[in-house]
Amino acid sequence: MKILVVGGGGREHAIIRKLKESSKVTKLYCAPGNGGISRDAECVNIPALDLDGIVRFSMEKRIDLVFVAPDDPLAAGMVDALEAAGIPAFGPRENAAVIESSKVFSKDFMKRHHIPTADYAVFQDSHQALDYIRTTGKYPTVIKADGLALGKGVVIAASYEEAERAIHSIMEDKIFGSSGNRIVVEEFLTGPEVSVLAFTDGKCLKPMVSSKDHKRVYDGDKGPNTGGMGTISPNPYYTEELAQVCMDTIFLPTMNALNQEGRTFKGCLYFGLMLTQDGPKVIEYNSRFGDPETQVVLPRLKTDLVDIIESVVEERLPEQPVEWLEEACACVVMASPGYPGSYPKGLEIAGLDETGQVDGAEVFHAGTIWKDDKFYTNGGRVLGVTATGQSLDEALQKAYAAVEKIHFEGAHYRRDIGKINR
Ligand code: AMP
Ligand code: GLY
Repeated sequence: MKILVVGGGGREHAIIRKLKESSKVTKLYCAPGNGGISRDAECVNIPALDLDGIVRFSMEKRIDLVFVAPDDPLAAGMVDALEAAGIPAFGPRENAAVIESSKVFSKDFMKRHHIPTADYAVFQDSHQALDYIRTTGKYPTVIKADGLALGKGVVIAASYEEAERAIHSIMEDKIFGSSGNRIVVEEFLTGPEVSVLAFTDGKCLKPMVSSKDHKRVYDGDKGPNTGGMGTISPNPYYTEELAQVCMDTIFLPTMNALNQEGRTFKGCLYFGLMLTQDGPKVIEYNSRFGDPETQVVLPRLKTDLVDIIESVVEERLPEQPVEWLEEACACVVMASPGYPGSYPKGLEIAGLDETGQVDGAEVFHAGTIWKDDKFYTNGGRVLGVTATGQSLDEALQKAYAAVEKIHFEGAHYRRDIGKINR
């Protein structure tokens, strides 16, 4: 099979490296890919959001399957466009991807179908939102831009003044563009967070092993949110009992409700959960694999990923086994100096071999380029250094030992991945 993966970050590198293990794959392309991915697949210079370009390339090369990994091409209808051209694609259509691309939609959807989530209100007028917050008088309060915002559209405001600043920048200054035309104001929940990704073909849903993201930039969960500074799998809080509760009260009700509304979801459905005193609640849905959750979940997959994604596309997931390794997995993200604020690019990376790897770990490249036989930084999150082990502690120890071998000027990473709150 010739497979094209759309995207170019650490998640896509983890997907590519897993696909490479399959005996069914004869050729792998990635659009646009990155430096590390170019050592494992042929990168083609088409932006991930270029629907026409991706369809044209897939026809030209007679691609057998396109794996659409990022949120924005899914929200823009890339799977619909590929299907219309007769090209099989893994990922939800636009009308199902809306579960991620509009927070207003997803909150109203959960309310309609009695799926547990935080209480909320929707506003398209900033003054009304602020009146509501002043009247409610409960802090912290959570403010979310309706649309996609690179994982940065959520503000936890500790006071009225903070809420005012956040609402002003989202709704008046439009820091996220039209994503801020509407906002959700939400009840603040507490409890451990769990990410659960699930394969679904619309008829059946098979959860993957659980994981835990570390979104804040600094140790001790301090500093601003990032796209994710590291992950572990399994999530120590996610017991079998909780998994059953989530299946019965969240996962299956979500799949069934999407069907009921004519929005059948095929692909990977991501449940961002909070384990509250009142039981598990949905913090967010994503319509795709998580980043950097994928980096710790896919290395634990025993079954051929190509078999699974084909069974999803062809709606025969019920008979397809999905098996996992017992080993734990940990990923430590090495980021550019300044990230998640502005950062330089083009810093030389030392310590990687010519395939972009290092002894004792698997390195998923998120923001690198490969030039004149060297790797250079090319993004905020640069590398996801990942290791498996018999225990979580062993996996973490191996991942951190590998991090020590890699250098670029001003590199920063969290030292407490997998060690905090467990
Ligand atoms: P989201 O982009 O919706 O996943 O939100 C980003 C992060 O904000 C989450 O991972 C949580 O840590 C936090 N968050 C979002 N909604 C809430 C909430 N209602 N209560 C507490 N924390 C929240
Ligand atoms: N790691 C969170 C996300 O992929 O949205």
